Amino acid sequence: MHRLLAFLSAALTVSATFITNDTTGIPSSFEYIIIGGGTAGLAVANRLSVNHSVLVIERGTDQRDDENINNPLIATAGFPPNICHGLGSMPPQVGSNGTKLRVQPVQFGNCLGGGSSINAMQGSRPTLAGMNALEALGNPGWGWDDFLPYMQRSETFTPPNAQQIERGASFNASVHGFSGPVGVSFPDPFLVPQVHSAAKETAESVYGVTPTQDMGDGFSGGHVGSMYYHIHFNETLQTQRRSSSAWSFLYPESQQRSNLIVLTEHIVNTIMTTNASTDGNITATGVTLLPSAGGDMLTLSVTREVIVSAGSVFSPGVLQRSGIGNSSLLQSLGISPVLDLPGVGSNFQDQVLLVNVSFPVSDAFQSDPNVTVNAPTLGLITAHATANEAFGDQGTQMISSAVRNSTSAADQVIASGGIVNAQSMELQVNVIANAYEIDHPLMELLFTVGVTLRLWAQSALPLSRGSVYINTTDPFSFPVVDAQYLTIDSDIEIFTRAARRLGLAASTPPFSDLINSTASAALGLPAVNASDDAWRTWALDHYSPAVHFIGSNSMMPHEVGGVVSPELLVYGTTNIRVVDASIMPLGIFPHCTLGLYGVAEKAADMILQTASKADPISLPSP
Ligand SMILES: Cc1cc2nc3c(=O)[nH]c(=O)nc-3n(C[C@H](O)[C@H](O)[C@H](O)COP(=O)(O)OP(=O)(O)OC[C@H]3O[C@@H](n4cnc5c(N)ncnc54)[C@H](O)[C@@H]3O)c2cc1C
Ligand SMILES: *[C@@H]1O[C@H](CO)[C@@H](O)[C@H](O)[C@H]1NC(C)=O
Ligand SMILES: *[C@@H]1O[C@H](CO)[C@@H](O)[C@H](O)[C@H]1NC(C)=O
Ligand SMILES: *[C@@H]1O[C@H](CO)[C@@H](O)[C@H](O)[C@H]1NC(C)=O
Ligand SMILES: *[C@@H]1O[C@H](CO)[C@@H](O)[C@H](O)[C@H]1NC(C)=O
Ligand SMILES: *[C@@H]1O[C@H](CO)[C@@H](O)[C@H](O)[C@H]1NC(C)=O
Ligand SMILES: *[C@@H]1O[C@H](CO)[C@@H](O)[C@H](O)[C@H]1NC(C)=O
Ligand SMILES: *[C@@H]1O[C@H](CO)[C@@H](O)[C@H](O)[C@H]1NC(C)=O
Ligand SMILES: *[C@@H]1O[C@H](CO)[C@@H](O)[C@H](O)[C@H]1NC(C)=O
Ligand SMILES: *[C@@H]1O[C@H](CO)[C@@H](O)[C@H](O)[C@H]1NC(C)=O
Ligand SMILES: *[C@@H]1O[C@H](CO)[C@@H](O)[C@H](O)[C@H]1NC(C)=O
Ligand SMILES: *[C@@H]1O[C@H](CO)[C@@H](O)[C@H](O)[C@H]1NC(C)=O
Ligand SMILES: *[C@@H]1O[C@H](CO)[C@@H](O)[C@H](O)[C@H]1NC(C)=O
Repeated sequence: MHRLLAFLSAALTVSATFITNDTTGIPSSFEYIIIGGGTAGLAVANRLSVNHSVLVIERGTDQRDDENINNPLIATAGFPPNICHGLGSMPPQVGSNGTKLRVQPVQFGNCLGGGSSINAMQGSRPTLAGMNALEALGNPGWGWDDFLPYMQRSETFTPPNAQQIERGASFNASVHGFSGPVGVSFPDPFLVPQVHSAAKETAESVYGVTPTQDMGDGFSGGHVGSMYYHIHFNETLQTQRRSSSAWSFLYPESQQRSNLIVLTEHIVNTIMTTNASTDGNITATGVTLLPSAGGDMLTLSVTREVIVSAGSVFSPGVLQRSGIGNSSLLQSLGISPVLDLPGVGSNFQDQVLLVNVSFPVSDAFQSDPNVTVNAPTLGLITAHATANEAFGDQGTQMISSAVRNSTSAADQVIASGGIVNAQSMELQVNVIANAYEIDHPLMELLFTVGVTLRLWAQSALPLSRGSVYINTTDPFSFPVVDAQYLTIDSDIEIFTRAARRLGLAASTPPFSDLINSTASAALGLPAVNASDDAWRTWALDHYSPAVHFIGSNSMMPHEVGGVVSPELLVYGTTNIRVVDASIMPLGIFPHCTLGLYGVAEKAADMILQTASKADPISLPSP
């Protein structure tokens, strides 16, 4: 306690956040300890440390000066490998012949900023129908109207300039924020205007969608528009920079916190807890950690809360090593169960992506002098279509009955560890089918600009469910991460149709005029009028992860496998919260990052509200 007070009074004279990889000089106790200095973790840390002592523990390094991360024009020109870009693998996933032979990577961020330091910076938001589905799953307070202000609080949106507007960018000021830490803008300059307008026209005719004013207004129905990015303009450098979580909430002069210590190159092993008190809940008292390079285990104490923010791939393992999870799994690994919470690691999911269609441009393509061989691919047209738009008048009815019929697959999903009971499947199927019936998009189509023109199709609300679990107590070993891609029939049916739409877009003018006419055949794309079987085979042999991993500590009712409450508290604990993509039970974020900042802002609000009502836990004197 003395050390803490000494530190706090010393800190009053120091205004900057202290970032260090050395534990020797830091206090032994904090009000809050945040596990993971990634996308959501640094955002929460920023808000709590305004007037509380906070420690962030990040496994990776501080890559503040890495141009491969900071410069979006380099970062998007083919994803240069960098020290922050982690890579694991999944057990083989399903292919067209039904055998599980398709090896898929697991990509993740591994430095300050986490995924936001390595991702493609594509900005998007959930829709009104999506947020309302999340609320309907048993999460009061998470509907669109409640959530939009938190997304606005996080951002500073830069409206498009005259040239960007002329080339098709537009926005709706009433849904944006203009004084938050995260810079969001359209790329400048907007490259190759003829591709932008051709892509929009083709999307309109293939999908029957119309342009909306803003991709982030919670739109009703389908639409097409220019995508914004998590990038901002740095006045000092006079150039565009990545708005990572670190460059938004941690590094800038305006965000310094005397109450915040960020410890890098240390990995959290476990959360220490007390035995259950009379009300049956357990309380976190600290964490155990060790240097990422190996070394002695240390312990640090916490007087208010532990916030788990290690991301969908790693947060389940932190809880599992701490005895929180499926007790029989933990016992088989020699871990003493502390809380039997079988949902930890289940309900894991990812959207599915077809990125393999990369077309050489045709002679008709008027080369933009700014597009060079290594041109960045900033600048996307994105279209979202509802089932009726994509498949005609009966589309919604067809899709919603296929989705509702998926309850018959519950046993299969339970057996693979994707859900904990049939009731979970029933509840999720119901809110997803309802969302489609209102007007939730069924799929996303993306058109890129560059020396090759790429068309991507991505699923929206997949039903296939997998799992993440540890198979050893070693905190350094990679968990078993299994997305169970496309294992539910309705997902395959939707994706088969999405693939055909992609083929149709590739052969529909004016976009098709810009690509080499022999390209589709050369890439093995089936003919637009080929059989469903031909398209299904192609889709199953070419899909890849969207890398939007969610759900492994889902926010939903305890009895259907939920891990956290709508307050993001781990069920059965008084002071362990999870704040990262793992809490999201449904794929309602087309791309996760901007939505996750909203989650972090809302979480910080709830945590501070709790703090305003309670004193810190008093620790036994050392
Ligand atoms: C290649 C790629 C491209 C993507 N493209 C986009 C895109 O264009 N747009 C978009 O919106 N989204 C995109 N995403 C998804 C998005 O980046 C992620 O969903 C998001 O960053 C996840 O945030 P998080 O806070 O849940 O976890 P992370 O940001 O992953 O943060 C977790 C942090 O915890 C640390 N950590 C893990 N375990 C421990 C431990 N035991 N102890 C201490 N620290 C630990 C990790 O190193 C990491 O820094 C992409 C993701 C990837 C991987
Ligand atoms: C901290 O960083 C320095 C400089 O990079 C390095 O030499 C040292 O080993 C690091 N310490 C830990 C605990 O990782
Ligand atoms: C099944 O498909 C995979 C590719 O997806 C291929 O590698 C494998 O040989 C096929 N197996 C059989 C039995 O056809
Ligand atoms: C802008 O957003 C507001 C709030 O969602 C909405 O009421 C309004 O209709 C939108 N304007 C346009 C032109 O779409
Ligand atoms: C702009 O970039 C410089 C150099 O990286 C950095 O020192 C400064 O903090 C940045 N400004 C903001 C507001 O991010
Ligand atoms: C917690 O309970 C276990 C047995 O259930 C007991 O061995 C242990 O001493 C208890 N610890 C504390 C701090 O009470
Ligand atoms: C734990 O605390 C919650 C409130 O946070 C309470 O509703 C619950 O009854 C307590 N007991 C158990 C066993 O969860
Ligand atoms: C818990 O784990 C055991 C052993 O791995 C497994 O058999 C069981 O199905 C799991 N229970 C749930 C509800 O997931
Ligand atoms: C179109 O692609 C084919 C190979 O698929 C190639 O031979 C031809 O040169 C290309 N034409 C143009 C104009 O790029
Ligand atoms: C090319 O880039 C320059 C500088 O960024 C810009 O001023 C110009 O408008 C761009 N040209 C086109 C055709 O986009
Ligand atoms: C419903 O599911 C069953 C079993 O998975 C399947 O045989 C049947 O064809 C499905 N019916 C529809 C309408 O999708
Ligand atoms: C854990 O699973 C991985 C595959 O994800 C495997 O390579 C490794 O051998 C397994 N380890 C143990 C101890 O079972
Ligand atoms: C400081 O923290 C308390 C909760 O302990 C909160 O109610 C209050 O609003 C915070 N003040 C500021 C300026 O954030």
